[in-house]
Amino acid sequence: MAEENIKNKSKSDLAKDPKFIALKNLYESAAKQLALKFEVLNSEFNVLYARSPIHHIESRVKSAESIEAKLSKKNLPVTINSARENINDIASVRVVCNYINDVYHVAEMFERQKDVKIIKYQDYIKTPNYNGYRSLHLDICVPVYLSNRTEYVNAEIQIRTIAMDFWASLEHDIRYKADKSKLPQGINEEMFNCADKIAEIDRQMQDMYKRIKESEKD
Ligand code: GTP
Ligand code: MG
Repeated sequence: MAEENIKNKSKSDLAKDPKFIALKNLYESAAKQLALKFEVLNSEFNVLYARSPIHHIESRVKSAESIEAKLSKKNLPVTINSARENINDIASVRVVCNYINDVYHVAEMFERQKDVKIIKYQDYIKTPNYNGYRSLHLDICVPVYLSNRTEYVNAEIQIRTIAMDFWASLEHDIRYKADKSKLPQGINEEMFNCADKIAEIDRQMQDMYKRIKESEKD
């Protein structure tokens, strides 16, 4: 039997659909579990070195509307199974770190965890996007232990500095509100230049932090 298309279901019908409720709960559980992994790493780091590499952690589960929109845009079936198979970021966790080195250090500690399978590693810090976007993206798969079975759930982890997060939040806000056809000339270049300047400040902050720490050793 063909799987039910969720596209034409109203928001309230979908919210009551047991399959959709189960899907939402599954991804919320995965997001919670992943956020906790980073909290644990941060608190242990604090115990060992008296500092926190992580500034804050955000996690979210995509809304039904965003899931539908992403599947429709990709011309894929708008069903629950199709969402599970084709959308890597139904659950996502954003880990905002203080310094650039912290981003790689936190990623390394996380990658060592045996229950997490890394599916894709995209380093937009070494190779920024066309518009200057920077972040480390890990597409991962993590087991979620339910009452009678284990489900393997895909999720996207974004690890970035506060400075990268500042740029990405405002760029997203500007792009979201902008009418693309009326974008003033040179905006894309300006956005790229802003990202470069912010990246320079990020390196400078990292360097100052390192120098201060070294001077304390003497
Ligand atoms: P999908 O994950 O399927 O969307 O494709 P992909 O793997 O090519 O996407 P990518 O990993 O590059 O980006 C996924 C997420 O990263 C987006 O949903 C945003 O949260 C963030 N992102 C990527 N590029 C940009 C950007 O240019 N600006 C901002 N603000 N965020 C971005
Ligand atoms: Mg991605």
